[in-house]
Amino acid sequence: MPLAGIKACVFDAYGTLFDVAAAARRCADALGGRADDLAALWRTKQLEYTWLRSLMGTPYRDFWQVTGDGLDFAMARLGVADAALRGRLMDLYLNLDAYPDAKETLKRLKGSGMATAILSNGSAGMLGAATTTAGLCKLLDRVLSVDEVDIYKPHPSVYQLACDHLGVAAGEVCFVSSNGWDIAGASWFGFQCVWINRAGQPPERLPGGAQAEIRALADLPPLLGL
Ligand code: LAC
Repeated sequence: MPLAGIKACVFDAYGTLFDVAAAARRCADALGGRADDLAALWRTKQLEYTWLRSLMGTPYRDFWQVTGDGLDFAMARLGVADAALRGRLMDLYLNLDAYPDAKETLKRLKGSGMATAILSNGSAGMLGAATTTAGLCKLLDRVLSVDEVDIYKPHPSVYQLACDHLGVAAGEVCFVSSNGWDIAGASWFGFQCVWINRAGQPPERLPGGAQAEIRALADLPPLLGL
């Protein structure tokens, strides 16, 4: 068994439980062939702005603001000037599809007595909306937002939130993320990490790494002997 002594499973939200490309896909009528490019650039800028803001030491702005800023850059870069479409994309981001195996996987973990949580850059409001839409609220013991520490992943104070709220040591946490950089940060902090690598990406060239790699959330419980 690659993971041992796990007391809690902690999940990244965007790209891990929720499909971030779903918003642009649902606007394919307005975006045509540009939906995939917009989704990719939007995500890239959203994340870059979290890291850059943290490095610059600028006042904290929540993920809703940063997500809107990333979208504005992506729309400008692709020459899409449409205020109504911007509003539609942002609304859809509040109601992203969960991956089809998210609910079943969480049910299985909770059913076996495992503590479960989300630990995300998302603002409390965004995470509340997404978990409600996806029907995941009752399957999660905690939904933790970086809003509590006013800095983004991969700052260690974000990962510490999971230990503080769940009352577990870092080494007792199984952290699951689709983001290679988040896996690096979480494992450097001391979590046991599972990388859900749906896109078959190579590992990041950063300190830290995953104990195990899976292609679907449904592959997680067997890793824990469940
Ligand atoms: C999150 C982003 C990083 O949910 O996916 O924290």
